[in-house]
Amino acid sequence: MLKRSLTAAFLLFVGGANLASAADDRQFRLSVPDVLAESGLMKYMLPRFTLKTQVRVELVSPGDAAEVALGDNGTPVFTGMGQTWSIDVLVPEHMGASRFATWISDTTGQSAITGFKIDGSQPFSLPVEEEEIAEDEFYEGDKLRGQQVSRVHCGRCHVTARGDEGLGIGSTPSFFALRSFDDWDVRFSSFYVLKPHGAFTQIEDVTEPFPEDLPSPIAPLELTLDDIDAILAYVASIEPAALGAPLTGQ
Ligand code: HEC
Repeated sequence: MLKRSLTAAFLLFVGGANLASAADDRQFRLSVPDVLAESGLMKYMLPRFTLKTQVRVELVSPGDAAEVALGDNGTPVFTGMGQTWSIDVLVPEHMGASRFATWISDTTGQSAITGFKIDGSQPFSLPVEEEEIAEDEFYEGDKLRGQQVSRVHCGRCHVTARGDEGLGIGSTPSFFALRSFDDWDVRFSSFYVLKPHGAFTQIEDVTEPFPEDLPSPIAPLELTLDDIDAILAYVASIEPAALGAPLTGQ
């Protein structure tokens, strides 16, 4: 008898909570597209949030009144089902809603995303590291062209791409090794004045012609500033060589 009334009280609480006003900080409405709701991620994730924070979440469809939305707008929080999912806090002053936004980006929220499995595989993962995106997008050059320019002009001496390890000159550092320097960007922006390039490199509108008594010892490397931008964009995108100790010179 006692057990039964406790159950009834619990049901009443859950039902009552759903009807509570949106101003209640202990619960909020989360709008989620059907595909995401049906993936099962929410069923896995939300109880973990509620357990930790005592804040309840009511799922609603896009277009319904809500305090938080998962979808295309806002801050990217995870990827899966062919897209990046972002969180948009529609009512930032709602305590429960803003706690959810914090939670989903911290380690507990992230482990709830990556811990969700369907038949042993992990359908959702974290968005690409922000730092990587930032570094990549910082350079406005054309990455693909940069790869080609690098291979044609720098590949005479440097290994410039994976798969090209057999090319280049062994004693010349690979682009992967150079990329692992903290100041790789400085070095790549000024390589044409750094040894040994000065003797054989011409940058349109930048470098002086080779001195008459000191012509380029090899077929000269002729580039434009656009080419250098493209090389920077390409090198920004490559993975640094994993080196135990930082490289010095070679
Ligand atoms: C003829 C051979 C040759 C060519 C062509 C060449 N390099 Fe180099 N590069 C070298 C050698 C050798 C070093 C190592 C110099 C040293 O360690 O003192 C080097 C070093 C570098 C460094 C590091 C410089 C430093 O001092 O930190 C950068 C960056 C670089 N090269 C970029 C390029 C780029 C970009 C191209 C193509 C546009 C290119 N190199 C073409 C031979 C070459």
